[in-house]
Amino acid sequence: MRVLSGIQPSGKLHVGNYFGAMRQHIELQDQGHECLYFIANYHALTSVSQAEQMREYTKEIALGYLAVGLDPQRSIFFRQSDVPEVCELAWILSCVTPMGLLQRCVSYKEKVEQGLSPNHGLFAYPVLQAADILIYDSNLVPVGQDQKQHVEVTRDIAVKFNQIYGAVLTVPESYILAQTAVVPGLDGRKMSKSYDNTLELFESAESTRKKIMRIVTDSTPVEDPKDPAQCTVYTLLSLVAGEEEQRQWHQRYLEGGMGYGEVKKRLVELTNELLSPFRQRYEELSHDRDYVEDVLREGGKKARQIAAELMERVRSAAGITPRK
Ligand code: TRP
Repeated sequence: MRVLSGIQPSGKLHVGNYFGAMRQHIELQDQGHECLYFIANYHALTSVSQAEQMREYTKEIALGYLAVGLDPQRSIFFRQSDVPEVCELAWILSCVTPMGLLQRCVSYKEKVEQGLSPNHGLFAYPVLQAADILIYDSNLVPVGQDQKQHVEVTRDIAVKFNQIYGAVLTVPESYILAQTAVVPGLDGRKMSKSYDNTLELFESAESTRKKIMRIVTDSTPVEDPKDPAQCTVYTLLSLVAGEEEQRQWHQRYLEGGMGYGEVKKRLVELTNELLSPFRQRYEELSHDRDYVEDVLREGGKKARQIAAELMERVRSAAGITPRK
């Protein structure tokens, strides 16, 4: 099974990214699948227009994924732009992509509403994503719920291409990562850098502590029962605590007699326990930039080989190569 996913370099990585995607990406690697993970810098051009920022965010994803357990011996990890063929495929796919298919994509509309410039890159974004997926004959695309439509568009494009040119492209499946919807930020809304409510993966333990202690809770008195389902602290705790401990806190919420300060303190401990090895590895890697650069370059070479083969098939099917 070939697994592929892309991560946009568009800011600091946070706990929502970890539970929403990164953790499962690493799990798929550890289960022995052939995984390709890439830093989607071409996609990020739709929202990041300063070179310095692009470099910084790219570094964040590179260090971040390596720090949480991506193993370059087992997974192919690379920069999207190190395989420029993907843009060539995107053009070829564009020529079989109905306008209506892209017009139905909600992410375009949402991004424009959020203030991104409604340019052609943003509109054609799903076609480039389809190229990313199809160029490696990917079988499984692990993504959050918000990307499901893009994988469906990819499938539609692949089917359309195959109808016109023969069975050239592998039609992939999406694999929706269950946790994505439920990682709340410090204010209870979905954890997202655009809401400025994140726990960053690589900030200091002290900063994590301060942020958790400031999470807004309701004003139920200590002695009264509390509703764990409505509590951001509990939801975060359920991500980091073991099953047994989680069950005990659940009980204590319902019983009453527990203050939010107490459960917050435990959340601080558990979060820092989880993050501390990641932070350490991140710190080490940040002093070893040559290693990180080598990983990406090597990954890029491997990915490019796979892509080159597919492109041969595609060009030949479309009649845009000279006859051998
Ligand atoms: N659009 C994805 C996101 O914002 C990133 C991405 C780009 C991607 N290309 C991809 C994800 C290919 C999966 C497969 O999260």
